[in-house]
Formats: sequence, structure tokens, C-alpha cells
Amino acid sequence: MRWVGRKGRLERIGNEFNIPHPLPDHPAVLVAGIGDNGLTVAKVVMTLSVPGPAESRLRERCELEILGEILAPERYWESIRGADALLPQLRDRIDDAALDAAGPGLRVVSNYAVGLDNVDIPACTARGIYVGHTPDVLTDATADLAMTLLLSAARRVVESDREMREGRYLGWRPDYLLGQEVTGATLGLIGFGRIGKAVARRAAGGFAMRILAYDPAGVVRSGELEVEDCSLERLLVESDFVSCHLPLTEETHHLIGEVELTSMRRSAILINTSRGPIIDEAALVHALSTGVIAGAGLDVYEREPEMAEGLAQCFTAVLLPHLGSATWKTRAAMGELAARNILNVLDGGTPIAWANPEVTPRR
Ligand code: DGY
Repeated sequence: MRWVGRKGRLERIGNEFNIPHPLPDHPAVLVAGIGDNGLTVAKVVMTLSVPGPAESRLRERCELEILGEILAPERYWESIRGADALLPQLRDRIDDAALDAAGPGLRVVSNYAVGLDNVDIPACTARGIYVGHTPDVLTDATADLAMTLLLSAARRVVESDREMREGRYLGWRPDYLLGQEVTGATLGLIGFGRIGKAVARRAAGGFAMRILAYDPAGVVRSGELEVEDCSLERLLVESDFVSCHLPLTEETHHLIGEVELTSMRRSAILINTSRGPIIDEAALVHALSTGVIAGAGLDVYEREPEMAEGLAQCFTAVLLPHLGSATWKTRAAMGELAARNILNVLDGGTPIAWANPEVTPRR
């Protein structure tokens, strides 16, 4: 099956069951999106290669172009001209300028991420473009990494590793590199969506932690979990560990700043695996270096790939380079979902996971 079109209109020919159709099966015969019968084939622009079968799935049916690097906006706009579908990374900005550059044939933006802060969803909706993304498949990997950061920061794993490598371990002592007890401690979850809930399950089930949750959209309890719904203020005051699991929006930008950090316990540890700008990073550096809080575990930063000045010298912070979903299995599943989001739309349906159900799709 393949999508073909004239003047921007796509239609399906052939099908999954090898019923003969007029187009050759092999994309190698396509030149610049034109099949040997003169019909255009749906053009999909993917920014970077991803693990797993996504590329071959798309290549079977479309003209797939992989840019291979994150391009500056002008070059990105140039390369997506005439695309029917985009498969961007979270570092690509999909805004009005990008949508204008892609042109009137663009029908779906399928982000290779669950977070959609790089995509102007209202602009897509206004133009009848579906916005797909990759929730669920990365929930476990991201929750695992949040727990990794929590445990590593609590037990000072990175500082301790340096002690060993730099030859500073001189033998066991009762007061050497003491950290925070995790079992039975209170965990405050800021954001109680899929990933927040998955962290709660791990923390409550594995470490008997008491769970507090705050979510601007309201805390929806999930059956078996014992969770106390509370205000952000109370959560910050009462938690031994605070972990952020919110999308980045205008409302969540700098949700945690100097005032919030000051209200936390001096022994508290702050974890962030969601989006960097939710925390005022300069205020966090100040809080860590003056002992306002005991530590942090960060996977995301305000201005990636850079870090705020002084953060690298805060050794009570465990710092990872945006690895929440970085397992082979999860990254392949994200690719497969992102590809299926596109293929479904080209096939006349809706993406599997999408963020703008109110869209009136382009035809
Ligand atoms: C996301 O999906 O939003 C992550 O940040 C990358 O997996």
C-alpha cells in the first residue's frame, strides 16, 4: 500500500495484502518523490535516525528523508518544503514559520517525544494538522530513571564514585558520606500523570514511601495507590524528596524558584526528569551551594545542552544528559509509535496518540 497524490491530495492505492497496484514496491525507483508512473509519493521528513523499525516502516510506503542532524531554523524550513508529514525531535521548533515552510500539503507532525513544548499545537490545529507524540511507551523507562536519580542523589553515589577513583577512600568510618534514608521517606510528586503515577508505584511498592501529589490539572488517583492530594506549598514543606513530572507550559515555567526552594527541607532532594525550565536553574544552583536543600537529581536543563553557571560544581547534584527514555526498547517503541501516527493519518485515519483531538483535518 502506498499514498500517492496530485496537487497535494493524497489517496491510498494498493493495500497491506499485496493486491497489485500501479506503483512499484521499491522506493529506490522514486526520484524526488515521483514514482515511475508520474504520481507523487507522500514525503516524510524525519530529523534523526531512530532505533528500531520506524524507518523501514515508513520507507515501505513513503518517500522518507532523514536529515541526520538538527538544522538551524532556515535550513530546517528549506528541507521540509512540500512534506506531507514531519517526524521531528524535541530540539526542532515546529512553529508558524516551520508550518508555512512545509506548505499546504503537511497533514501530520509526529513528535519523537511525549513532551510537545517544541510544537505550537494551536498553530497546527488552526491549519488542520494532526499533532502526534509518543506517550505510554516511555513511561516505565522515565520512571526508572527518576528513581535512579532519587536513589543516587540520596545515597551520594556520584560523590562516592569520585572518592574511589581519586583515591580518597581511606577505610570505613561511621560518619563517612552519609546520605538520606529512602525507605519510608515522603515523596512529593509534582505532576501526577502517567510518569508521576509510575514513579509513585515504584516508590510506594518498592520503598514503602509515603506519597504526596500535586497536579495543576487535579490529582486523579489510580486504584491501588495510596496518595495524598495536596497543595504545592504543603508538598514542598513535607517532602523528603520532590520529583517533577509536568509538561512545560507558560504556567509551569519556573514553577520551582527561590521561594519554593527555600520552603523545602534542608535535607530535601529535588528530582527533575520532565523539562528543565520548570525549575529556575540559577536559583537551584544557589540553593545547592548554600545548603538550602541537600541535593538534586537532574536529567533536564533550562537551556540544553548547557547548564546554569555553577551547576557543574554542585557535587550534591547528580547530573544526567536527558536520558529519561534512553533504553533501546523504549527508543524503538517511540519510533514505531511515531511512524504509526504518520501512517495512520496518511491512511485517512487519526494518529494513535495525538494532542489535538479538536483538529479538523486537512483533506
Ligand atoms: C520526551 O519524550 O518528552 C522526553 O523528554 C524524551 O524522550
